[in-house]
Amino acid sequence: MTVQPLMPPEAAQAVNDMLDNCACVERDQNVLILAAVDGLHGGRNIVDETVIAWIQAGVQARGAHPSVLWVDMPVRRNVLWPEFATRDTVWRIPPIVKNAMKAADLFINHVLDLSSEEELRELPETLKEFKLPMVRNMATTAPLMMSAWARTPHDLIAEIRFRTGEMVVTGERWELTHPNGTHLEGKVGKAPGGKEVYPYWRRNGYYRPFPDGIYPAVNPVGCEGVFIFDHMMPVWARHIGVPPAFSEPVCLTVRDNKVAKVEGGAEAAVLRDFLKALANAIGEDGAYEIRAPHGGVHPSALVSAAQCPDPDYREFIASFHPSSLHMHLGQAGHNRDFPYNLHTAVELRGATLKIGGKVLHDNGRLGVADDPRVQAVAAKYPDRPGLDGARWLYT
Ligand SMILES: [Fe+2]
Repeated sequence: MTVQPLMPPEAAQAVNDMLDNCACVERDQNVLILAAVDGLHGGRNIVDETVIAWIQAGVQARGAHPSVLWVDMPVRRNVLWPEFATRDTVWRIPPIVKNAMKAADLFINHVLDLSSEEELRELPETLKEFKLPMVRNMATTAPLMMSAWARTPHDLIAEIRFRTGEMVVTGERWELTHPNGTHLEGKVGKAPGGKEVYPYWRRNGYYRPFPDGIYPAVNPVGCEGVFIFDHMMPVWARHIGVPPAFSEPVCLTVRDNKVAKVEGGAEAAVLRDFLKALANAIGEDGAYEIRAPHGGVHPSALVSAAQCPDPDYREFIASFHPSSLHMHLGQAGHNRDFPYNLHTAVELRGATLKIGGKVLHDNGRLGVADDPRVQAVAAKYPDRPGLDGARWLYT
């Protein structure tokens, strides 16, 4: 018999917030809670049984019906190139998982391999087909669920994210700078789907990350300059075959929204070859396109080694901190045969992004921190980590 693990008050704050304000669990819903077995034993889909049991109990307490599914994810190579899989040859969502998704009203997902932003295109397409909202719970272990990162009110991050998105205005000029010599600039193009406005709430969407932490990506037009970076977000670092923290900075020269030159050490050489292979798969225009300056909005998105022993996962969490900004290399959206969501995020810590002369972030300082609408949400939660993230870090 398994004993229900006792839930400490820190975890209760986070679990309740996630279920009520991110998942928005309703009575009588069938809720699929998914986790992968490798994550219990040092694999990349990091998870523990305690968090799964807390969430299961929380779903049940709301009058809904939780079903927990522990699955094997396909064993496969990390590095995706030089030959890229196609839609026909790529690994698939396991069929039992897909059938469980079909029968669910809500999906709470703890499997990193099934993230809609970085992995298979099949996943977001399936969510849409099944009209299935997915919570991507990234606080997948008990220490992470107790962290200030998970205890920061979900509504506060949503407000910060939305108000930051409001600062991204189609037609204005943007400028990204860093003391390391980075200087990129261009115009803000239209938002995804050709929309004029960028901000949107996630509440009714199929994709609901918990904790949330990134604002909508700027669609750059006529981007020019240099981008010097020494980090890559871990999922695509693994797929390309470079470490998330580089041994030497890489300097990208960008002309008219395209990568014109890649200079640096060992990682630059790998990136050059990767982009060449990508050009073979999706064409030069898509492979060398640079897109999406955007970054983190979560003031407490830094965790200690005691809270998360895996250094790559700590890097992943840190990419949601306001000190982190990233660009994406490559655009595969126009190539229907390419099976992955290309999310090659090259990352800078401590940069400044301005749009239309207004500061979105400045080395971790958020432009919306003084917005009275953001302050009003923060004031509702005086006992929780909020805009004062620096006072709660690593707790
Ligand atoms: Fe991104």
